[in-house]
Amino acid sequence: MRLDVVTIFPEYLEPLNVSLVGKARAAGTLDVHVHDLRAWAHDRHSTVDDTPYGGGPGMVMKTGPWGEALDQVLADGYEAGAGRPALVVPTPSGRPFTQALAVDLSRAPWLIFTPARYEGIDSRVTAEYATRLPVHEVSIGDYVLAGGEAAVLVVTEAVARLLPGVLGNAQSHADDSFAPGPMADLLEGPVYTKPPRWRGHGVPEVLLSGHHGKVARWRRDEALRRTAALRPDLIARADPAAFDRRDREMLSILGWQPGPDGRFGPSPDAVEE
Ligand code: ADE
Repeated sequence: MRLDVVTIFPEYLEPLNVSLVGKARAAGTLDVHVHDLRAWAHDRHSTVDDTPYGGGPGMVMKTGPWGEALDQVLADGYEAGAGRPALVVPTPSGRPFTQALAVDLSRAPWLIFTPARYEGIDSRVTAEYATRLPVHEVSIGDYVLAGGEAAVLVVTEAVARLLPGVLGNAQSHADDSFAPGPMADLLEGPVYTKPPRWRGHGVPEVLLSGHHGKVARWRRDEALRRTAALRPDLIARADPAAFDRRDREMLSILGWQPGPDGRFGPSPDAVEE
């Protein structure tokens, strides 16, 4: 997969040399190109922003440098035979970034990121490239960062670990919270490793039993418990067909019951923990 990032802070992307993403780069699975947007700003001060039309606080990133930068990046990538590009635009006003979108993006041969500073990029830039490329405006959460670079790191890490050969154990992401499959839409429960006792804390007996069926059931119960406590919205919107008889028993113990449409909601008599 080819990745291009255009930014006014190329050094912010240094972490792409570290850990899993760094290894994927070294192994040639990821071909990363970081570009300084100011290389396409032609005045004495390398200006990339200006005051917003309509007034208001802050500055807006100008069309000129972005247009030239993206044209050049696209030309270089096409020349190198990178395949069909998708533009990823980090913005707090984007669609929430999810595991499903990470899976989607991991199938693209080439991603181009446009992290913005200030109040964002003149909207004509995304409009222009959306006529030619898939454009994903994504938010990594309901908070406002000073710029999109941290979001690029987040999205890249989520995508890179899904690329074939990047994680040592392909099964590792089958059990991820939010991964499609039996644990879809449940948070992963607690995990333990040696030693069996630490500062008076033991390990749940079942995990030492060697009984795979019981371990799987315990993990599922703990995932339900954790999800009900921390992300009740995930239980409420889950497809009820995803819950087996034991899940339903567990949900009932946790104070959840099916409503008229089959979806689960807190029991009216459930006591808040
Ligand atoms: N830029 C600023 N805040 C952001 C957010 N929450 N997600 C993505 N990009 C951003």
